[in-house]
Amino acid sequence: MSIILRARPVALAVIGLGMLSTSPAFGDATIEQGKTVYNTLGACGTCHGPEGKGDGPAGAALNPKPRSFAAGDFALDTDGDGKTGTETDVFNVITNGAQKYGGSVMMVGRPDIPEADRKALAKYVLSLKQ
Ligand code: HEC
Repeated sequence: MSIILRARPVALAVIGLGMLSTSPAFGDATIEQGKTVYNTLGACGTCHGPEGKGDGPAGAALNPKPRSFAAGDFALDTDGDGKTGTETDVFNVITNGAQKYGGSVMMVGRPDIPEADRKALAKYVLSLKQ
């Protein structure tokens, strides 16, 4: 019984991934749009820093520290595909927070940010890697 219950989300995730590879889900979002949301409604820089280096003022005292996007420092695999830091992973963390995926409660989900803006945020965050 529990095996069946657990298998289901995996199957759904696989179906979801299949759809992602063919649909332009993230195609419409732009990095510029993401940068704007990062610095306004998202207020992500307060913890992650203005350039995503994980050095924002509100992040200094946190343990674990906010991720450095510049270092490409992603730990959470939200869809069980064995990879971290994919567009889907970053989008899921922004939407639902990190705790849901075994991460810190300090990374609060922002479902209040419109979906298109969350997609743009994911793109922007990934563009910060140096
Ligand atoms: C209150 C401080 C805080 C704010 C504000 C914040 N974050 Fe985070 N964020 C964190 C912390 C702490 C972690 C590390 C979580 C962990 O290690 O479990 C994190 C992790 C992440 C991750 C990495 C997940 C992974 O795979 O490791 C992403 C992506 C992210 N944040 C995006 C954002 C975005 C985009 C915003 C703005 C909408 C934002 N964060 C706002 C504290 C914050």
